[in-house]
Order: sequence, then C-alpha cells, then structure tokens
Amino acid sequence: MRLTYTADLWWKNAVVYCLDVETYKDGNGDGIGDFRGLTQEIDHLRRLGVTCIWLMPFFPTPDRDDGYDITDFYSVDPRLGTLGDFVEFMRTAKDRGMRVIADLVVNHTSDEHPWFKEARASRDSARRDWYVWQDEPDPVDPKTIVFPDKEDSIWEFDEKTGQYYLHTFYRFQPDLNVNNPEVRDEIARILGFWMELGLSGFRVDAVPFLIEGVGGDPHEFLADLRAFMNRRDGTSILLGEVNLPYPELMKYFGEGNGDEVTMCFDFIGMQRFHLSMARRNPRALAEALRERPKAPDDSQWATFARNHDELTLDKLTDAERQEVFDAFGPEKDMRLFGRGLRRRLPPMLGGDPRRLKLAYSVLFSLPGTPVLFYGEEIGLGENLEAEGRMAVRVPMQWSTSGGFSPDPKVSVPSPDGEYGPRNVNVDDQRRDPGSLLRWIMLLIERYRESPELAWGDYEVLEAGDDAVLAHRTDAEGGTVIAVHNFADREAGVELALSGLGHCDVLVDLLVDGSLDLRSDGRVTFTLEPYGTRWLRASVADAPPEDTSALSQ
Ligand code: NOJ
Ligand code: CA
Repeated sequence: MRLTYTADLWWKNAVVYCLDVETYKDGNGDGIGDFRGLTQEIDHLRRLGVTCIWLMPFFPTPDRDDGYDITDFYSVDPRLGTLGDFVEFMRTAKDRGMRVIADLVVNHTSDEHPWFKEARASRDSARRDWYVWQDEPDPVDPKTIVFPDKEDSIWEFDEKTGQYYLHTFYRFQPDLNVNNPEVRDEIARILGFWMELGLSGFRVDAVPFLIEGVGGDPHEFLADLRAFMNRRDGTSILLGEVNLPYPELMKYFGEGNGDEVTMCFDFIGMQRFHLSMARRNPRALAEALRERPKAPDDSQWATFARNHDELTLDKLTDAERQEVFDAFGPEKDMRLFGRGLRRRLPPMLGGDPRRLKLAYSVLFSLPGTPVLFYGEEIGLGENLEAEGRMAVRVPMQWSTSGGFSPDPKVSVPSPDGEYGPRNVNVDDQRRDPGSLLRWIMLLIERYRESPELAWGDYEVLEAGDDAVLAHRTDAEGGTVIAVHNFADREAGVELALSGLGHCDVLVDLLVDGSLDLRSDGRVTFTLEPYGTRWLRASVADAPPEDTSALSQ
C-alpha cells in the first residue's frame, strides 16, 4: 500500500505512547520527573518506534487528581519544569521524528483555578456563568457517579453564595459551562496556544461529559472545535475518551462526516479483549471486531490494552465481568468501583511471557492505532499499596536500581519483588533478545511496515479451532493476515483465503518462514500454545514497491 497516504493521515497507523512527565524520569534530582529528564530519555521512545507521544496533564495543579485538576491551562507545573523546558522537549521530539499530543481537560477546572475562585466569590461575578449552578440540584442517579468511593453526588453546595455547582468527577473539579460563548472561546484559545508551541493535537478527557448539557446540538460544539483546529493546522488530531456503545459512539466521530473527534478509543474492543484473554477463547473479541462500525475515512479507532485509569469492565455483562475479575483480579483489593481492575497486564497474566507476547501481538495486529501506557513495553507491574487508580502509575524503571530518580518523591513507589526494578527494567531488556521490550520493538516495526493492518478493510476469518483468532486486512492490493492462539495448547489452523489468486506464498512477518499458498486459497498449519503468526500474501521474489504504480 502507498506509504505517502500514511504520512498525510499520520494518525491512522501511528504508535501512540502515553506518559506522565512526573513519573517518567527525574532530570534535576529533586525526586520528581520533569521535562529535562524526559528529554534525556527520548531515544528510548525513538528506538521503540513510537511516532506520537501523549503527555498526561503537565499543567499547574494542586494534584488532587494526579494533574486532572488544573489551575492554569497556559503553563507548566513548576515541579515538572518551565515552558522553556517544554519547548526544548518539543524540539527534540520533532528532531527524532515524533509528534506530541497532550491531555485536554476542559470538562472542568480545579476548584483552586482563579476562574472558579472568581465565579464563587458572588452570584454577580463576571465569571459566575463560566460554571454550572443550581438552586436545587436535580435528583442524582447513583449509577452516574463516576467515583462512587469518594462522592455521592455530582452537586456540591457552595456556602457563601447559597447555590450548588456541578462536578461530574470529584467535588474539587467544578464543571465548566461550555454553553457560555466566552468559555468556548477560551477553550479554543487553549488549543491554539499549545498548537502554536508545536502540539499535533489533544487527547480529549471525558468527551461525553464535556458536551453533555450543551443546548441545541452538542455535537456542533465538537465540530466547531475541529473546524477551528483545521483552520490552524489540518494535520492536528483529537483523540477522544468516549466509553460508549458503538452506535452512540459513532456520533462523536461526526457519523459519516468524520468532522468531530479524529480518533476514539475502542473501549468495547478493549473489554472484550480482556474477556477473551481470561477465557483463553477469542470469540468475544471477534464479535467486537465484527460489530465495530467502520470509522469515517479520515478517522481511526485507537486500540489499547491498558491506560492510566482502572481497567474498566463496565460494558461487559455482570457475569462476564465476574469472569475477568476471577481470572485477573481474584483479590478484592485488586478491584475498583465495582467495575474495574487496578492492575497492569503482566501481573494479571501471572507474568507468563508467552501470554504477554500474545497479548501485544494481538494489540498491534488489531485494525486501528495502538496506544501504549508507559512501561507496558517492559512489562511494568503495579503497586497495590498505592491508593485506588494510582496503583498503575508507578515510576518508570530504567535500570536495576530503578533509574527514575536518585531519591524518588512521587506518591507511588516502585513495586518490590518480581516486578521491582531489579527484575523489570529497560537496560536489561535492551540487551536480551528474548525480552518483552525487543518483542514490542519488533511488533511496532512490522506494524509500521504493514499499514494494511491499520488502514485496511478487515474480516474475521474462520480459523478451524475455537482458540484461534484469525483476521485479514486488505488495502490497495496488499493483504496481511494475523493468527493468534489464545489457548495453552497447540491449535490446528485452517484458513480459506479468497481472492489471492495472484499470490503464491504467505510470508511470515514476525519470524523467518513462509507458507505455500495453494491455488484453492487453503492453508493449514499448527500454532504452538499462545502462538502468534503475522503473514503477508506475496508473490515469490516480488519487489516491495508502491503497488499503485504497478496498476498504471
Ligand atoms: C478521565 C481521566 O482519564 C481520569 O484520570 C480523570 O480522573 C478524569 N477524567 C477526570 O478528569
Ligand atoms: Ca525533577
């Protein structure tokens, strides 16, 4: 397939890597990660093959929700560096060929933001209407409370002015009123500011909540934001946190027009992936892939196994969720909010390297743009001693001694034991050809060389064995097939591949090897327990050029 397309619509087969500057690398030895430290480690990301870095909130904050409570949208938290350090980081990332996006958290501010302080000073304050106030709050359905361990309402009474303000999340995060044109202008100004400093877009926090309550058509607001970005930089993206069933979610792409959020996380696919891993049977994931609507032409699905929050299983049935809990979170302390797990993937899988390699092979072969959470590439574990969702936000592990900081002062210490720095770190895995790091580097390299995986029309194939997921992607005459055995036993695979009469061989992409493709399109082979195979349909000895040129 033509690679020029993939340079234009770069996000459609990007490799996104999410990190928190605070926990990544301490550059000045004060115990907290910072932009200078991150910049010094940038070649780790380049070597890995990351094409887009997603920075979690790095703005001034009282840090009561790990930075998702912002007091100034136009600067850098002094603990993490200065705007100057930020710009140096951006420049270095650009030099290494990587784009950068950042969290856009404008559903709410911190209650210590000057805007909110002004708004709550009096009912007549010029900023009063920047937030959402009510005399008597509407009754609250307990199911809509996002953090039920800490909150029992989404309305908080403000003593001084005698009204309630809306807070979708914690009470110290008052919701902005996006019905107010001044607030909308300010949001655009925030986007414009960071784009001017080189950001290629934003991961938009809590999109459904952001547009909820907007009068008229709430999607017009998103389309307006998108149009504003297009005017400033047509190659910038919005990556939306939209955890909704597929039919509702499609509205956030702007339905067929694709004029709202550029990419949406596939939360449904993620949850069915974990259910499939737990069951050692890929049916649930295969169903999700079959159900998942096609994203509009210039849009894309973002696929992921883990993120910085609880591993939410809220879209599974109660019985399915219980299956995942039993398999991956047997102890109560591993679960959160009754709907998720506060664990990272390697401990969930009992540290079995075969299963871990399977999991990431599946992730990188899935149609969409993969998003990694920092440390996944080395199999970082969690620290259950930490509170709630913080368990997975441990410092990055660079060397046997940790290497994050000489004297870490972040809220979550590295785990001890099996997942501690002595056993899990970048240095060791760089040297070990059998490591998870090297496996993920290979997957990324092959994923980038095989844009069909991300761009292509895909089809889940009959594989001849219940434990096997086989899917095929086709784009512009190129065909890639990925086959994965979810079970701890050998599987006999039988595929029937149509329309490949011009090909005579399936070439392995992850190992040396190939399979003859018979003229009837049938292939049979055996996959080892948790085995994985990526195959490209080819003609023996064909040159790997732009296939569009051959048809002219
Ligand atoms: C979603 C973010 O992912 C989460 O970490 C945060 O606590 C809430 N939004 C509130 O901003
Ligand atoms: Ca520091």
